[in-house]
Amino acid sequence: MLRVLVCVSGGGTNLQAIIDAEKAGNLGDTKIVRVISNNPGAYALERAKAAGIEGVCVSSKEYEKREEFHKALLAAINEAKPDLIVLAGFLVVIPKEVISTYRNRIINIHPSLIPSFCGTGYYGLKVHEAALERGVKITGATVHFVDEGTDTGPIILQKAVEVKEGDTPKELQLRVMQEAEWVILPAAIKLIADGKVTLG
Ligand code: GRF
Repeated sequence: MLRVLVCVSGGGTNLQAIIDAEKAGNLGDTKIVRVISNNPGAYALERAKAAGIEGVCVSSKEYEKREEFHKALLAAINEAKPDLIVLAGFLVVIPKEVISTYRNRIINIHPSLIPSFCGTGYYGLKVHEAALERGVKITGATVHFVDEGTDTGPIILQKAVEVKEGDTPKELQLRVMQEAEWVILPAAIKLIADGKVTLG
């Protein structure tokens, strides 16, 4: 049984896609054991509660020093004894001690086809604004392993999405979520649960 911990910060639609996939039996031998949010008001915590999954908030605002926040975050992760950590819209720079403790066991969903529109400053709507600004005809989403860089780890899955004439950033964001993110994130977790992902 793959023990999965999901880290969130916002609406939790990717978390919901994982929950729904688990319920439908499409996630392999997997159990979501905990959801951690850095934002106490994240609707993702409501989604976890509704699904009977333990939700924990670890907010940097509760700690004077960044190191204390990092220690608390690592402790909350360790407590869940995860085999896999899934960053689903987690707007926190992952502390290096977490990356080293869970080397090659942390994955992230990014709303573009890496290496386009990724790296520092590219998150949420900003990614889609940049894609529209550049005038790309195809964008999409990427699931990748997390390393010490920003959106630089080995790519696991990607899915392309058409940019339509007159798209607003919000419209494009929703299409990328619906057609790509909510499909490839659960699919990547299943591949890992099935032992089908190896790092070269
Ligand atoms: C998604 O667009 C995801 O690609 C990005 O953050 C957003 C999270 O949305 N990493 P949600 O909280 O899963 O709805």
